[in-house]
Amino acid sequence: MKEQIQEILEEARRSIPSCESDKDLEELRIKYLGKKSSLSDLLSKIGTVLKEKRPQMGALLNKVKKEIAQLIEQKKLVLHEQADATKAQGLDVTMPGRPLPIGAKHPLYQIWEEIEDIFINLGFEVAEGPEIESEYYNFDALNTPSWHPARNPQDTFYLKGGMLLRTQTSPMQIRVMEKFKPPIKIISTGRCYRVDKVDPSHLPVFHQVEALMVGEGITMSDLKGALDSFVKRIFSADTRSRFRPHFFPFTEPSAEIDLLCISCKGKGCKLCKNSGWLEMGGAGMVDPAVLEEVGYDPEKYTGYAFGLGIERIAMLRYGISDIRKLVTNDLRILSQFQ
Ligand code: DAH
Repeated sequence: MKEQIQEILEEARRSIPSCESDKDLEELRIKYLGKKSSLSDLLSKIGTVLKEKRPQMGALLNKVKKEIAQLIEQKKLVLHEQADATKAQGLDVTMPGRPLPIGAKHPLYQIWEEIEDIFINLGFEVAEGPEIESEYYNFDALNTPSWHPARNPQDTFYLKGGMLLRTQTSPMQIRVMEKFKPPIKIISTGRCYRVDKVDPSHLPVFHQVEALMVGEGITMSDLKGALDSFVKRIFSADTRSRFRPHFFPFTEPSAEIDLLCISCKGKGCKLCKNSGWLEMGGAGMVDPAVLEEVGYDPEKYTGYAFGLGIERIAMLRYGISDIRKLVTNDLRILSQFQ
């Protein structure tokens, strides 16, 4: 009988810890401790054991029963702890799902794409150019003399071998004219670099959109027409632009482009510093020296060009007064523009 009891205990020690559910555990409890269990059976047969060995056998049976009961209790605790831990890990399949935040394009890129779409609709083609440029394309071919202040290393990031980080998208005018014959009607967008201290209106990396149209009989009114169509589409139908005389080496005549203040419509407010107008970029008629440089006949062809700051357009559209908000990757700010 002693061996039988020992065998039952060994089996219980193996099966109880490996059981996986409350239900299985209950079945084991009935199997080992129930009224019809082999232990109960043995207890009822204790009378068949030699009289002097009976107390010892009885005590052994009780000890084994106690151990099995303990094993079951312990296992029950383990099973319940596991169930709680699974719930705590969020694996409760009955719980409603957590919504995942959906990303969006950066506001600057949204505007960038919108700008390209508007010009494509106005019949422009999009040309892409390198951010690492040569001095030739960025300055020389654009009629910018060697003494021009823009060429100063305090304004331009120079690289080795006559190369630099382009300070404007204007070099694309040269690259396109070099490659194609008129008529030309392109825009070129992209990153530009200047040695600027970061402040509310300056970043050393910014974006421009450049436009160039060259052909026979192109005049300044074509320039004004294209610009006005653009500002009306990117802002609103009652937006107007104006030219203010200025100088750029690669255009003659040249002008700065102002936008009728989109906030006060010209009355004067904080945004436009009471002037009623907002600065947008530069424009002009392509200088004959530039046309000659690319081998075009300035007697036959004329053209206009303009360059606008994309950050400037984005800031006006989103009502941001500090350019740094566009690059700090602060989701509290960025998510406002989705
Ligand atoms: N490239 C000039 C700048 O970065 C802007 C500009 C002025 C572009 C006149 C033009 C233009 O195409 O005709 O300040």
